[in-house]
Amino acid sequence: MTDNNTPVPVSLIGLGAMGSALAAAFLKAGHRTTVWNRTAAKADDLVSNGAARAATVADAITASPLVIICVLDYPTLHDVLGGADDALEGRTVVNLTNGTPEQARATADKASGFDYVDGGIMAVPVMIGEPGSLVLYSGSRAAFDRYAPVLEVLGAAQYVGEDAGLASLYDLALLSAMYGQSAGVSHALALVGPEHSEALSALLPPWLSATAGLPASDADDSDSPSDMQAVAIANIADASASEGVHADLLGHLLVPLRELLRAADGDFSTLVDRVRG
Ligand SMILES: NC(=O)c1ccc[n+]([C@@H]2O[C@H](COP(=O)([O-])OP(=O)(O)OC[C@H]3O[C@@H](n4cnc5c(N)ncnc54)[C@H](OP(=O)(O)O)[C@@H]3O)[C@@H](O)[C@H]2O)c1
Repeated sequence: MTDNNTPVPVSLIGLGAMGSALAAAFLKAGHRTTVWNRTAAKADDLVSNGAARAATVADAITASPLVIICVLDYPTLHDVLGGADDALEGRTVVNLTNGTPEQARATADKASGFDYVDGGIMAVPVMIGEPGSLVLYSGSRAAFDRYAPVLEVLGAAQYVGEDAGLASLYDLALLSAMYGQSAGVSHALALVGPEHSEALSALLPPWLSATAGLPASDADDSDSPSDMQAVAIANIADASASEGVHADLLGHLLVPLRELLRAADGDFSTLVDRVRG
């Protein structure tokens, strides 16, 4: 294992908004950083801050034992790495491109002659290297352990398992929770309108925090009987319609959730099993 005070050469392939932030964090931490991007000009600022510019993907890979790739999607990843197979021999590839668990597993299965770690970035570029940044990793445990201190430069590094698809699975699950919450918050703000948005914004964080564990809770379902919840959901729909708020953000609640809750006797804790195929 290396420690995060020992500079380790790192190569970064893909310098979009996220890849550039990752490269900047490695540079700031003192790691020799080699960069490659399809649009070469996006490396200019990093190069002026000390990064080495690789002319080709293969050059970027051979420059470092640790290769991070962060591009748009998996087809792009395979396109970019295709043809550089020989250069990958003996490296550790950490793929931080967003994708599905199946894509991550298929990529890990094809990895030959190098270690493969898949990752899910639970942060936006401005958070990289700052408190609150979290990156999930799965795949080769040995490779993760070897480079964890270096990866900590990006944010808390949490290993979730040998199955390479797990980081993607947890990433997409957390994103689905975020999108659901964001849609609900946006609908809530639209419902109260600009006049009350400040007051509601102060009420939202403690409310969301208090209710975050609701689906998994063991709460006695008689506390929230289905008829009561069906009425509350119908009232949300009616009040939204009267206020002229479109149902787009919350349409999923208005009928499917009401029906699901009715079938579940109002017990949120059983919804997880009910929606699994
Ligand atoms: N931005 C975020 O908030 C965020 C947060 C978490 C995770 N992520 C994930 O990080 C990854 C990168 O996101 P990003 O924000 O950096 O996106 P981005 O700014 O759109 O950058 C996309 C990157 O992919 C490259 N690319 C796209 N098509 C290509 C092709 N056909 N051949 C070669 N390179 C190609 C781009 O190269 P060019 O510069 O040449 O176009 C660029 O380096 C995504 O999987 C994203 O889901 C992003």
